[in-house]
Amino acid sequence: MQEPYGIDYDKDDKNDKLAEKTKMTGNPFYAKGPVEPQYFANRRELLEFFTENVTDAAQNKNTKPDNITILGNWGIGKTSTLLKFQDIIHNEMKDSMNLFSVFFSLKPSVCENADVFTSCLLDAIAKQYTISIPLKDRIGAIIKDEAKIWEQWKLENISLSPELRRKTRKLDLVEALTKLWNKLENNGIDLVVIMIDDIHYMLTEGWDGSLYDLRTDIQALATGGTKYLFIITGPKFIYPTMHEIAEPFTRLFERFELNNFDFPGTKEAIIKPLRLSEIQLKISDDVIEQIHNITDGHPFFIISIMRDVLRIYKNETMTLAEFEEIKPKLIEHLSRSKFQDDYNKATDAEKLILLKCAEINNRIFSPSEIMSKSMSKLLERLAKKELLVKMERGKYSLYHPLFKEYLKNLGKI
Ligand SMILES: Nc1ncnc2c1ncn2[C@@H]1O[C@H](COP(=O)(O)OP(=O)(O)O)[C@@H](O)[C@H]1O
Ligand SMILES: [Mg+2]
Repeated sequence: MQEPYGIDYDKDDKNDKLAEKTKMTGNPFYAKGPVEPQYFANRRELLEFFTENVTDAAQNKNTKPDNITILGNWGIGKTSTLLKFQDIIHNEMKDSMNLFSVFFSLKPSVCENADVFTSCLLDAIAKQYTISIPLKDRIGAIIKDEAKIWEQWKLENISLSPELRRKTRKLDLVEALTKLWNKLENNGIDLVVIMIDDIHYMLTEGWDGSLYDLRTDIQALATGGTKYLFIITGPKFIYPTMHEIAEPFTRLFERFELNNFDFPGTKEAIIKPLRLSEIQLKISDDVIEQIHNITDGHPFFIISIMRDVLRIYKNETMTLAEFEEIKPKLIEHLSRSKFQDDYNKATDAEKLILLKCAEINNRIFSPSEIMSKSMSKLLERLAKKELLVKMERGKYSLYHPLFKEYLKNLGKI
């Protein structure tokens, strides 16, 4: 049956147009993986440092690059930043420099022992490298040759009994990378960027001394005259341990912390995707401010909320009152899609602790406020699960205020 034309006809027509538009361009907000480089917001200082660092090292034969550590808690944008770096290398810099880059995402099984780590890293180099287009074919052939040699090493290594293995040559990262560098340099590559995402698995799941080993290798590569720029990422909690157990390790890197966005950062994260995908939705500044306040400027939550805003809201402008109307729906979806999973990551004993944490008025608290010191292991474990964040001087905080709200409500039931 056909709808009668009503007074809302005009508005409906606009809604249809917007719905059409979104269908055409898709929803540019996506929070379940890293952000597409074109929508990447903020982090100017870090991007500038990266660009200058790479340019200097690539254009001056004698300049060694500065390795970079990026520290930040869950969902703050570490992986997104690495992908943005890769995009800068291969789009913005491609005409002036020949760069080779690899993105290597660590997982626990990779850190079992040094051989597995080395062979997985070499595997990533062989399969996941990217280079600027003019050199693609030439470099592709070189990598294929090297990968054959690495594969041979791996087979020899794995097929030997443990006793024999100890006597034979180990998979040697420095040797493999030095050889690779010499070939790449001879074929016009100026610099190699190796990005290792989620380095904390080395600390929590790695073999004894894994960080020492990596440090020694990185140092040996630098003094050996190769040009590798290492970029590693991890949650903030690893830094003190990294510093303690492998002090020179931290000295080898320039450290950057990723924190929540400030208001202009939040605004950019919201406006940029709307503008670039030509979505006709005008969001007033007070709405952006409200989104900034409830998300605390946390990128994951900003993007999750915006994804739902586009899904639910079909008008061309949005005022604060209109946002407030849909807000409960947005929060409810976050609870279902994120906080329930978070909560279920905790054991029963840890769940009780979480509920207690949510009852404390202050955002940052010390262990003694919830329980006896003997149970502080639970807090440590919750921090490892990234549900609590460990702050300075042994204090803690729930990882996000919205999670705190969720727990408070659970506690009331
Ligand atoms: N600089 C940024 N600009 C826009 N969105 C971002 C940015 N950084 C992170 N995000 C958003 O936050 C989410 C989590 O980012 P991610 O890089 O996966 O974090 P991490 O690796 O630190 O856990 C992504 O889905 C993305 O939508
Ligand atoms: Mg990540």
